Amino acid sequence: MKKCCVSYVKASVAGYRNFVIPSEARDLLFKRHLFSDAGDPLSIMEKNNNQKGGTVCFVGAGPGDIELITVKGMRLLQQADVIVYAGSLINPVLLELNPAAELVDSAPLCLEDLIKLMVDRCRRGKQVVRLHSGDPSLYGAINEQIDALRDEGIAARVVPGVSSLGAAAAALQRELTAPGVSQTVIITRAAGRTPVPAGEDLAALAGHGATMAIFLSAGLAGKVQNQLLERYGGETPVAVVQRASWPDERVIRTRLSELAAVMERENVKRTALILVGGALVPGGQKSLLYARNFCHGYRAAEPEEGK
Ligand SMILES: C[S@@+](CC[C@H](N)C(=O)[O-])C[C@H]1O[C@@H](n2cnc3c(N)ncnc32)[C@H](O)[C@@H]1O
Repeated sequence: MKKCCVSYVKASVAGYRNFVIPSEARDLLFKRHLFSDAGDPLSIMEKNNNQKGGTVCFVGAGPGDIELITVKGMRLLQQADVIVYAGSLINPVLLELNPAAELVDSAPLCLEDLIKLMVDRCRRGKQVVRLHSGDPSLYGAINEQIDALRDEGIAARVVPGVSSLGAAAAALQRELTAPGVSQTVIITRAAGRTPVPAGEDLAALAGHGATMAIFLSAGLAGKVQNQLLERYGGETPVAVVQRASWPDERVIRTRLSELAAVMERENVKRTALILVGGALVPGGQKSLLYARNFCHGYRAAEPEEGK
């Protein structure tokens, strides 16, 4: 781990090792029906374990900052017997919060070995958490795991997480769906070793003029720039957010025509999101939601002056 993270890690472990929802708070949440036992992955996992195959809980770990895991995700993590984690992106502090768990880094495993391991632990009655970075629904490769587990009679539950997209937008302090500028966010990637389906190349998507969030493409900045320039102007605002929410987070703002040169100069090669579009800079229109003369179910419109 990088030197700059060490003191943060030590402080975080000290602060969070004993983080569990206090039982009084938990009881209160149950009473107020804010905490549902019925849909709770852990209770389902326990039920299933008593019966046959068991359940693997896929948990979104968040983008890096350990406080950006959900309360449910944290609870499952702390109660797991086995944590299978995506080694390259998971904050190691999270793993230290359950020192008793068996920890397995999935990075060196192929799908077959990964499934074999999870099936084995489930059949031995262990509670397995599969920890994915950000939100598992985005570039998480969970479909193939869930399908293969199902073939083995093992159920899956998914607990969402804060995606790096949310963390990057937070770092920029911008709403990506700015009224009058873009009401659409296109989440995509440049084609690399993983191809993208026909019709989803960056130039085609750029034709919408919407806000774009480009994952997994920091090493392809030249290609991203050239393809986007087919439809966006060179002055289009771009932001690169590297390691969003980590202590060494970096935000680089530039314009599209300079993207590749800036990323080269700043040596941004991985763990970065490239965000593109007019919503990244001040301007646009105010939303109607808080407009004085706009009524909705929770507020009557105020009459315009002189009417
Ligand atoms: C395999 S994908 C996982 C995405 C993850 N499921 C999510 O919701 O953020 C990895 C890519 O996500 C982006 N990424 C993940 N964590 C990041 C972070 N903290 N800051 C910026 N980008 C990040 C990068 O584009 C990286 O190449």
